[in-house]
Amino acid sequence: MIHIKSNRELDLMRQSGKMVARVLMELTKLAVPGMKLIDLDQAAEELTLSFGAKPSFKGYIGYKHSLCTSVNEQVVHGIPTDRVLKDGDIIGLDFGLSYQGFHGDSAVTIAVGAVSDSAKELMLITKQSLYAGIDAARAGNTIKDVASAIENVVKPHGFGIVKEFVGHGIGQKLHEDPQIPNYAAGASTLKLKPGMTIAIEPMVNRGTHKVKVLGDKWTAVTNDGHLSAHYEHSIAITDGEPEILTAWENITSNSDIQELLKQLKEKGTYGQRGPNPA
Ligand code: MF3
Ligand code: CO
Repeated sequence: MIHIKSNRELDLMRQSGKMVARVLMELTKLAVPGMKLIDLDQAAEELTLSFGAKPSFKGYIGYKHSLCTSVNEQVVHGIPTDRVLKDGDIIGLDFGLSYQGFHGDSAVTIAVGAVSDSAKELMLITKQSLYAGIDAARAGNTIKDVASAIENVVKPHGFGIVKEFVGHGIGQKLHEDPQIPNYAAGASTLKLKPGMTIAIEPMVNRGTHKVKVLGDKWTAVTNDGHLSAHYEHSIAITDGEPEILTAWENITSNSDIQELLKQLKEKGTYGQRGPNPA
């Protein structure tokens, strides 16, 4: 069943969406060489609680963390371990929270230090495919129109679009109907209506579209070990322009570490530099 949100509900989703964006923005500054994944998770959780909100992923079908951290060939649902980020990694940060009962869900992939041109291109195209999908998310258009818009950006580059994981409705539950696939053949011709709120989340691989899930039962990785990128926004369908609820558009770099990092360092929870254990 698809929930059409009232103005009051949309207003709460705007608030949770803003908080999600704020958390991702802080995490982006922290995701530098030397940082431990588990410390990113802790920072996400602490910020969320300080907002009076609740992490959406923690406890969700047995997931134990607040954040998903997918490094390099990891596609989605990477578990924040004590792995240390190193120069040249790319990392997908996927985060959701609920505030007054309404969820927001968003993801970014960012460069850790200096990354290859090939990684940059993959991130750029994946992000562009997200915005193409959002632009197609208009009342009267179908879910297939959204999926086609995403596919049309990715296809010319020959990258693999992941099929096993899809976008979704969002609201009082993290995952609601309808499903939003990132390729046209998988998508329904259901029409979008004002008041629908959906999370659009293309996952794009540099090589094969095929993925497998590791022995930890969560971490999805590319079959061929090549890089993968993931971007996600929660949006509202309106009478006019699509409304991005989780807008983090000003996230571009992770170069300056500010207040939160200082606090983490003072508490001694900031990861030590060292070899990558993963
Ligand atoms: N953004 C992801 C999704 O919508 C995150 C889910 S992780 C989980 O599926 F732990 F909550 F499952
Ligand atoms: Co999602």
